[in-house]
Amino acid sequence: FTPIGNDGLIGGLLILNGLKVTLMVTFFAIILGAILGVGTTLMKMSGKWYLTWPANLYVGIIRGTPVVIQLVILYFIVLSSLDVDKISAAIIAFGLNSGAYISEIIRAGIQAVDKGQMEAARSLGLSHGQTMKAVILPQALKNILPALGNEFIVLLKETAVIGFIGGVDLMRAGEIIRSRTFEDVVPLFTCALIYLILTYTFTFMLSRFEKRLKQSD
Ligand code: ARG
Repeated sequence: FTPIGNDGLIGGLLILNGLKVTLMVTFFAIILGAILGVGTTLMKMSGKWYLTWPANLYVGIIRGTPVVIQLVILYFIVLSSLDVDKISAAIIAFGLNSGAYISEIIRAGIQAVDKGQMEAARSLGLSHGQTMKAVILPQALKNILPALGNEFIVLLKETAVIGFIGGVDLMRAGEIIRSRTFEDVVPLFTCALIYLILTYTFTFMLSRFEKRLKQSD
């Protein structure tokens, strides 16, 4: 194996394909997570025990166990009889995982809005629902968006465990190259560098976005 010529090309394609998998899983998982997160938050805020209880159980189990075990259980046990491919299984597993964290992000965002806001709006005659929609949620969104961006970064890095179910993401691509070439430094540092560039770029975009949000304060 040499980094140039045919071998280099195969290695490069492997990395590129892995990168595609990493980005795809992260992207769809965060979308699924956002939907589940909103749903879970609504269940938690409903005040009905038969809704809050399952929601709390879901968040408790997801946050209380490593995402890698959740992924392996989902793929090898829960979905094993259905013909689900590895990428879809990973999206579901990471989406389920992220949903629990996102619901906590939303809850924290809502709780961070000063209690006086609700009281003031209610004393002006707005209903609880109206206050939520017109007063609380717009302010909560400002707390939530940066945290959501952060969740995206966490998830991007966390997908590096996809190899546990045999999916070839960026990390696994590096590992494959490493095992076939007996070359440790180049593939590992290449992978690390790509992750770093991705998270750095995203952090940078996020901080600019946060500055824009602050402008209206
Ligand atoms: N490493 C932690 C775990 O294994 C974090 C999981 C993912 N975190 C997240 N915010 N989605 O459980």
